Amino acid sequence: MANASGFFTPSIPSLRRKIQPSIGVSRSGFSFSEGICRRVVCLSGIQGAEKNVSPSESRLPKLVSKGCKLIGCGSAVPTLSVSNDDLAKMVDTSDEWISVRTGIRNRRVISGKESLKYLATEAARKALEMADVNPNDLDLILMCTSTPEDLFGAAPQVQRELGCTASTLAYDITAACSGFVLGLISAACHIRGAGFQNILVIGADGLSRFVDWNDRGTCILFGDAAGAVVVQACDAEEDGLLSFDVHSDGEGGRHLGACIKDSNTDNVLGSNGSALEFPPKRSSYSCIHMNGKEVFRFAVRCVPQSIESALEKAGLTASNIDWLLLHQANQRIIDAVATRLEFPQEQVISNLANYGNTSAASIPLALDEAVRSGKVKPGHTIAAAGFGAGLTWGSAIIRWG
Ligand code: ACO
Repeated sequence: MANASGFFTPSIPSLRRKIQPSIGVSRSGFSFSEGICRRVVCLSGIQGAEKNVSPSESRLPKLVSKGCKLIGCGSAVPTLSVSNDDLAKMVDTSDEWISVRTGIRNRRVISGKESLKYLATEAARKALEMADVNPNDLDLILMCTSTPEDLFGAAPQVQRELGCTASTLAYDITAACSGFVLGLISAACHIRGAGFQNILVIGADGLSRFVDWNDRGTCILFGDAAGAVVVQACDAEEDGLLSFDVHSDGEGGRHLGACIKDSNTDNVLGSNGSALEFPPKRSSYSCIHMNGKEVFRFAVRCVPQSIESALEKAGLTASNIDWLLLHQANQRIIDAVATRLEFPQEQVISNLANYGNTSAASIPLALDEAVRSGKVKPGHTIAAAGFGAGLTWGSAIIRWG
């Protein structure tokens, strides 16, 4: 059954399954498609993992909550600051060109011993501290990133850094600059569909590692950062995710990407199936390529539509919303979307002048600054939207605190 916010809720409050003593980790949930609510149970029992989690340590079955609220946020940025003037020493550009076309003046870049894992963990610690939630009380860590330092994902590394026991599930979500919005929605589904209580959603990216620093068309845009929020189960009346709207379009994906480089794998098998060249060469990813004009057009066309759709599902209009918080890609995109939705400039959150486009980190980073500066207060409503590679885009109408 679909509720007003677009979520499907189980018709009977369900209990999470008790964990069998022989099974290391047990997670249950619901998947939603075309109005059908299906129970999905995932079990894994890797030897060795079992010793870290006993049935008594695992989360006890709880009633599924109808609501979820955002109760803490945090962020972290690298120490190295790269200004437009610094870039003008490397490529044929200027502070004026970059700031007029994008609004960006500085960006932070991971250097030295810093790592994405370190930034994500810092942001997570601050969010947990604000939320007053112990890392061991986390049911789930969602790491929204397209640039993990391990191909197989970063979330379990953050889980370890935070000192969580193995009863906390941790996995990555890859959706470029839409990653955080999708992570937030996924967290709500885990809470409303499967009885999770405390979920950490991290948006973190280190795109500077995939930028061609000789390409003035892209190197001016990106920076590195991490942001995090804690989402907690609550009653329906306190609900903090009022509605959402999400999309993807693989057709448009050609306009923005960082693809795996060819590795001669075509020649691995001969016509009779025998191995001619084996093993294949190692693969690596190419630098970010982008058709800036197409991405710009896509953003100013699709983002307002998505926000309008989310507002409609929530039964709200732009005049009911306190803040517009978009993925921080380009000030001209932010301005165009705000104008289309008739949001006054003073209700638009923007910090990209200092950090550039930090991909999945940009929304939680800007949210964290706005909350800590006292701009965003408990009870304020925010229309948030992410958009980017994939192509992917989506909106969420949230209430802070
Ligand atoms: N400095 C000086 N000149 C430049 C620079 C630069 N850094 N970059 C391009 N130019 C030149 C071009 O060569 C071109 O010169 P020409 O007219 O002699 O050929 C001229 O400036 C205009 O170039 P355009 O590419 O047409 O510039 P545009 O106005 O489109 O701005 C920009 C480029 C800023 C990239 C813009 O298209 C944009 O912001 N697009 C959206 C990009 C975006 O948001 N991407 C991230 C998505 S999120 C994710 O998933 C990662």
